[in-house]
Amino acid sequence: EKGGYEDFMIKEIHEQPKAIKDTMTSRLVAGQDIVLDKIHLTKEQLDNVDKIYIIGCGTAYHAGLVGKNIIEKLARIPVEVDIASEFRYRDPLITDRTLIIVISQSGETADTLAVLRDGKKKGARVVAITNVVGSSVSREADDVFYTWAGPEIAVASTKAYVTQLVALYILTLYLADLKGTLSKEEIEKIKTEMLTLPEKAETLLNNLETMQKFASKSYMEKDIFFLGRGLDYAVSLEGSLKLKEISYIHAEAYAGGELKHGPIALIEPGTVVIATLTQETLLDKMVSNIREVVTRGAKVLGIAFEGSTEIEKTCDYAIYIPRTMELLAPILSVIPHQLISYYVAKQKGCDVDKPRNLAKSVTVE
Ligand code: M6R
Repeated sequence: EKGGYEDFMIKEIHEQPKAIKDTMTSRLVAGQDIVLDKIHLTKEQLDNVDKIYIIGCGTAYHAGLVGKNIIEKLARIPVEVDIASEFRYRDPLITDRTLIIVISQSGETADTLAVLRDGKKKGARVVAITNVVGSSVSREADDVFYTWAGPEIAVASTKAYVTQLVALYILTLYLADLKGTLSKEEIEKIKTEMLTLPEKAETLLNNLETMQKFASKSYMEKDIFFLGRGLDYAVSLEGSLKLKEISYIHAEAYAGGELKHGPIALIEPGTVVIATLTQETLLDKMVSNIREVVTRGAKVLGIAFEGSTEIEKTCDYAIYIPRTMELLAPILSVIPHQLISYYVAKQKGCDVDKPRNLAKSVTVE
């Protein structure tokens, strides 16, 4: 059932090109409008929406952070992202002008489901992004977007996360089209690029040596810092969760600009920093953040687009991902994060599919 792979996690990492493709198939067709058969939101209803909340737990929450960034950028609707267990107890402002997007791979996470139910009670419209057909979340939401990742067995989410991202990009284009914030040409351009992502993810998965080599370094053992800005920060949070979950190594992700506000005090000779730099407008700022940690003796791995040669000058190691639109970078840049965690955990002899203390689906509060 592992199809020749050692674990489900590595199998699922390798299934990502297909999962991305399947989630786009029939929804994104060149030259045609986006078709979302289980989303019934009309232009009139969308024009009435004054606020979007994206809610999830763990990895789903991290996908939501990317969602906020792109919906605000492309569809120009204010978005707030929150953790389901925080949101439900804080008396948030929910009205009949609120759109709640809940994200849940399993569709059974107790806190996420509670947000959905409470939101509906208060008059909000709820869109669910889920991977399980017939799950509680899919049955109770007003609109559903299924991610076609296929069953995800490993506790650490990989292919479900990338398909949640794909779902959010498609949904964003759909909203932008309805609202008229993007022209048909602009939508077509992003669509065309998205359709190249399965192949680019495949290329990435065919070049594993640098990641394996980096993961085998003896200093990959404690307190690893992930740094990024903008979309790269969202991916860094996911990278840091992955590493904690399966390798039991303490890891934290920080927004590059926050370094000086505290975390830099923890950098000492040998501290490992994994920096993601895919956003052109933030590149100079990130490079100066890297210089600050290098000066204090940190070992830095940079994850950047092919051709960003300045990375090599500042970082000790570099992993290159195939070029795509900056906006779409998370779909590819998360893959090296997943693989580094995987290789580090394997090296430590951890059970990557069933990490201690964790369950695949958290149906208790
Ligand atoms: O099934 P869900 O997407 O609702 O699950 C949410 C989290 O429990 C889940 O993403 C968790 O953080 C994963 N173990 C992350 O790898």
